[in-house]
Amino acid sequence: MRTKVTKAIFPVAGLGTRFLPATKSVPKEIMTLVDRPLVQYAIDEARAAGIKEFIFVTSRGKGALEDYFDNAPQLEAELRKKGKTELLEILKSTNMDSGEIAYMRQHKPLGLGHAVWCARRLIANEPFAVILPDDVIAAEKPCLAQMVEAFEETQSNIVAAMEVPDHMTGAYGILDVKDDMGTIVSTKGMIEKPGPGLAPSNLAVIGRYILTPTVLQKLNRKEAGAGGEIQLTDAIDAARESGEEVYGYRFQGQRFDCGSKAGFLQATVAFALARADLRDDLWNYISDVVHSEKAAQ
Ligand code: G1P
Repeated sequence: MRTKVTKAIFPVAGLGTRFLPATKSVPKEIMTLVDRPLVQYAIDEARAAGIKEFIFVTSRGKGALEDYFDNAPQLEAELRKKGKTELLEILKSTNMDSGEIAYMRQHKPLGLGHAVWCARRLIANEPFAVILPDDVIAAEKPCLAQMVEAFEETQSNIVAAMEVPDHMTGAYGILDVKDDMGTIVSTKGMIEKPGPGLAPSNLAVIGRYILTPTVLQKLNRKEAGAGGEIQLTDAIDAARESGEEVYGYRFQGQRFDCGSKAGFLQATVAFALARADLRDDLWNYISDVVHSEKAAQ
């Protein structure tokens, strides 16, 4: 029988130090891309892929995240009273149904693999998705939906993948490709943040995964890997070593690294330019800036 993916884990326990001082009091995942928090993009993508249960792995200081998904009756009543139906609908679309969302604390920052392992009891014996909200992907068909379609065929581990330049391979999990079939590649290895000259390819893992429960079993070992952290990459590769397939999936779409300031700014511009209510003003502003720079040169 073919299994469907209905649960997704969102690891959001990171301190977000790259965005200090903002992240001193605001969780990184609540920072806004145009007018929606980063995490809303991840939730919408998961829903579009058929996910029904949303599991957040959080840490101290992430209370604003839980409030964000809660109903806001006072705000809703106020908007209703003022007849602001459009805003009311936008607000309501962010509410999560009771029991649809779960929070799990990661008590120590032991790595991405450990964060995923913290959610193991909520997954049980079924395939699950992992979404890293820092990786925002603009695509006609959302990235996870593309991967769920591929999973329906393969019924095995799939990680989103994208080519990166040589000097960037040390920042990612990198695939050792067995067979390259175009959109899908099979793998014979996966290395987390390889040192200079050690990357087996330029195909990097991007923050979308569909994984089998075997990966959770491998995480039980709690072995530290690159950077002294328990790495998800290592557990996925261990599942492959024990006989499962691990595929890389070259998704259609544009990925923004919202874990970096430059990536966040690029995403902000790209998403704003895609909005009818903002495009013209922003476009005029950008053209003015570019022209005056050129004139100054
Ligand atoms: C994590 C993963 C890495 C992956 C990357 C994608 O790294 O460990 O394998 O390539 O996300 O964004 P991080 O960026 O959290 O260091």
